[in-house]
Amino acid sequence: MSLITLKSREEIEKIRRACLIVAEVLERLKEETKPGVTTWDLNQLSEELARRRKARPAFKGYRGYPYALCTSINEEIVHGMPSKKRVLKEGDIISLDFGVIVDGFYGDAAITIPVGRISERAERLCRVTEEALYKGIAQARVGNRLSDISHAIQTHVEKEGFSVVREFVGHGIGRFLHESPQIPNYGPPGRGVRLRAGMVFAIEPMINEGGHQIEILPDGWTAVTKDRKLSAHFEHTVAVTVSGPEILSSLNERTVFFDKSNYKV
Ligand code: MF3
Ligand code: CO
Repeated sequence: MSLITLKSREEIEKIRRACLIVAEVLERLKEETKPGVTTWDLNQLSEELARRRKARPAFKGYRGYPYALCTSINEEIVHGMPSKKRVLKEGDIISLDFGVIVDGFYGDAAITIPVGRISERAERLCRVTEEALYKGIAQARVGNRLSDISHAIQTHVEKEGFSVVREFVGHGIGRFLHESPQIPNYGPPGRGVRLRAGMVFAIEPMINEGGHQIEILPDGWTAVTKDRKLSAHFEHTVAVTVSGPEILSSLNERTVFFDKSNYKV
């Protein structure tokens, strides 16, 4: 798909329905995330909760990915695969990435959360990654260019001494999980298409504590940092509207203005 589809208000509300289920599931998974729990347990719970809401997990079967949830621990960046053998331990950070399809429309979001008590640098990495997501979202405004989102994310991350993963990007979303455009989390400002009301984006910075280089593990899916330092990942599905960016995958925020400390519910 190379054209960016503009969604009507009705279509945006359908995407929101999918996104709110994703947000609810992530919230429940967050409560269950503690030492001793396996990533398999989290996967099973995500699938059961989605099905209870008549939603279908979006990732299962997507390009052959076998699970409903992506669980990426510590040096794993994205696409970590749930396993009965993977037991969470105190001090880990874990990215939970989940998507569903409901009534023909997709929702997609991710959070990175602590397992018990974590180090100060792990905490700072998670905080900066989430802040970078909100800096990006704040640029998803009518009249801006696509790369204004990318640039805002990169600028914040590098100012804090972390690095942006290049190989994975955010994406348009709607009737398909991955639509045009691709949204890199780095780049100069003022490039790419001009943003218009009705565009819907999954914005998802993946941020490394050390270098930006990655490797893919032999399972063919799990992306890890080359230096095996930590990585964090946050994602929201966001609509570009005449009144500003609207976060569709949050249980409490609606419109953000310039940063996370200044949103309207
Ligand atoms: N949020 C991720 C993405 O947009 C999840 C995809 S995992 C996959 O790429 F298994 F479905 F590929
Ligand atoms: Co995504």
